[in-house]
Amino acid sequence: MKLRFFGTTGVQLPVVGQGTWDMPESGTRAREAREAIRRGVDLGMTHLDTAEMYGAGRVEELLGEAIVGIPREKLFIASKVLPANASYDGTLAAARRSIDRLGCGYLDLYMLHWPSEEPLEETMRALARLVSDGLVRFVGVSNFEADAMLEAASYLRATPLACNQVLYNLSERGIEHELVAVAERNGIAIVAYTPFARGKFLRSRRAGEVLDRVARRHGATVHQVALAFLLRLQNLFTIPKAARVRHVDENAAAAGLTLENEEIAAIDEAFPRRAAGPLAVL
Ligand SMILES: NC(=O)c1ccc[n+]([C@@H]2O[C@H](COP(=O)([O-])OP(=O)(O)OC[C@H]3O[C@@H](n4cnc5c(N)ncnc54)[C@H](OP(=O)(O)O)[C@@H]3O)[C@@H](O)[C@H]2O)c1
Repeated sequence: MKLRFFGTTGVQLPVVGQGTWDMPESGTRAREAREAIRRGVDLGMTHLDTAEMYGAGRVEELLGEAIVGIPREKLFIASKVLPANASYDGTLAAARRSIDRLGCGYLDLYMLHWPSEEPLEETMRALARLVSDGLVRFVGVSNFEADAMLEAASYLRATPLACNQVLYNLSERGIEHELVAVAERNGIAIVAYTPFARGKFLRSRRAGEVLDRVARRHGATVHQVALAFLLRLQNLFTIPKAARVRHVDENAAAAGLTLENEEIAAIDEAFPRRAAGPLAVL
């Protein structure tokens, strides 16, 4: 699995991790989902992304069940505090609840899920406190515009703002206008969520044909080409969600796929960026 430095944390992370939103919660599909996560970890997809919001806490429990027996230091576990809980005390309490549900002892990364009505400075102070208390290793934000991301970073001292987790896929490339460059200049990693647009990234038949052609040339799938296109950006990581083992196998292998410049140009043309505007969110 290909690794990259995660912002200025000094830690290297796999370029492809694993999302968990909407993981099946019961029955055979839940069993396969747990197996898929473990398979992904075996393949090096050790960055596991979750949030207190997912299944109102149930997904954190499921993830906790999936990782039983895996040495803790092999994993990079990320969770997020809901904006409604993001007061100073609320953030401290929410982190402890997430750690309990996951049964993981500490979080590797803890993010504010999207901008909150609570004062940002307070939330960032609470995140920093969690780091100094040893409950969280690194902190980040999610769904933040460039200026708000820099404001969040400005409230931190001893720990850097590790990342901004944002929507990015072939049909939603808005972050390429400004956010990607601002993040890179400031040593903040971008974590691209919903990289397959939840299955809806093929905009038109012609766009699909372009991806098919590139995929065939590499003996790859269109989903692998879609990930490889996003990963051409140097400061970027992605966290596709896959509850099926065969999807996890494909996504892990996508990390080793490098596209030629002309292939990137063809995909760029087939999936044009929209005009610059507010950050798109899901
Ligand atoms: N910070 C935020 O606000 C935010 C918002 C949204 C998402 N996220 C995070 O980002 C993660 C990923 O985004 P997402 O879950 O919205 O959607 P996504 O990753 O774009 O799409 C997931 C869908 O793609 C399918 N899939 C996965 N790998 C595939 C492959 N190789 N070939 C074909 N289909 C494949 C999955 O099927 P199966 O499950 O059946 O395998 C699932 O139906 C989330 O799970 C969550 O952790 C964060």
